[in-house]
Amino acid sequence: MIRIRGLSKSFGAFKALDGLDLDVPEGQVLGLLGPNGAGKTTTVRVLTTLLQPDAGEATVAGHSVLDDPDGVRRSIGLSGQYAAVDEKLTGYENLYMVGRLYGMSRKASAGRASELLDQFRLSEVAGKRAGAYSGGMRRRLDLAGAIVARPPVVVLDEPTTGLDPRGRLDTWEVISSLVSSGTTVLLTTQYLEEADQLADNIAVIDAGRVIAKGTADELKAQVGSERIDVVLANPDHMQAAAALVSSTAGPGARLEINHQTRRISAAAPEGHRMLVRTLTDLQEAGLPVVEASLRRPTLDDVFLQLTGERPDEPAPAPSDPHEPSRKEAINA
Ligand SMILES: Nc1ncnc2c1ncn2[C@@H]1O[C@H](COP(=O)(O)OP(=O)(O)OP(=O)(O)O)[C@@H](O)[C@H]1O
Ligand SMILES: [Mg+2]
Repeated sequence: MIRIRGLSKSFGAFKALDGLDLDVPEGQVLGLLGPNGAGKTTTVRVLTTLLQPDAGEATVAGHSVLDDPDGVRRSIGLSGQYAAVDEKLTGYENLYMVGRLYGMSRKASAGRASELLDQFRLSEVAGKRAGAYSGGMRRRLDLAGAIVARPPVVVLDEPTTGLDPRGRLDTWEVISSLVSSGTTVLLTTQYLEEADQLADNIAVIDAGRVIAKGTADELKAQVGSERIDVVLANPDHMQAAAALVSSTAGPGARLEINHQTRRISAAAPEGHRMLVRTLTDLQEAGLPVVEASLRRPTLDDVFLQLTGERPDEPAPAPSDPHEPSRKEAINA
């Protein structure tokens, strides 16, 4: 349903997309995982016909973004990274308007708006101006707007960033039910856990290129199943402790050492057993620990493993001038 080949896009001399290839079969969810600036939103904008690529091609439900942008827009629902709702309208009016813009009847638009407000736990504030909504409510309203017309393909750009845990779980549920009704979803995220929950397949992108592809399990297998973290009491013990953790963990531990936070982290294929052994070793060597934990791999770990370095994080812009409002998206 989504096919991307050799997609490239530069802004001046800067290559935001550098020969990207992606496929999403019908009814599946592809998680596009990447750090700030990886090119996720740029991919989404090309795919939704809001941005022209310099090279390569992309098709949605068989429609080319270059040759048949109208066909693409008819097949796709978008929830952009920054919620684009009409602040002057109520939640209900926002969804009703979207239905009407998609050519649905008054009655169908009204029914669909109520149904979605209910599904997204917004019924109580349905009559309030969206300008008075919290960030999470806006996000949910925006997401609801993307699926008003039940498009066969839905593109969600970081749908849960900024949501509270309840909002995140609700959103995951909505996405799962979309998928079970046959919708194809491309979802960008910075959270491995989210991709893990929702995506059939994951593509990790960095600097506008796919650097790894696979299921969540396949990717996690690459970083080792779990990691241990220890924080030392004394900064002077770092070197000795690192050597000890390294020998306990064995080859392939991929140690990470942060002198500032006095934290040492290592891949722990045997999980808790390795944690216990490391703590015992450190204690016997007289290197006190103030904090110790076992954790699942994070996106950072995947990146560390794939690229050998941490993703550098440019400060996020307060608002994105490139992200068009929903109305522009519909009129485009
Ligand atoms: N219109 C533009 N003009 C100039 N540079 C741009 C433009 N749009 C994007 N970029 C740059 O392209 C790169 C990729 O941006 P993009 O928004 O696709 O990243 P992202 O993966 O969505 O990041 P984030 O997780 O922060 O949303 C960034 O370095 C960004 O600054
Ligand atoms: Mg983005």
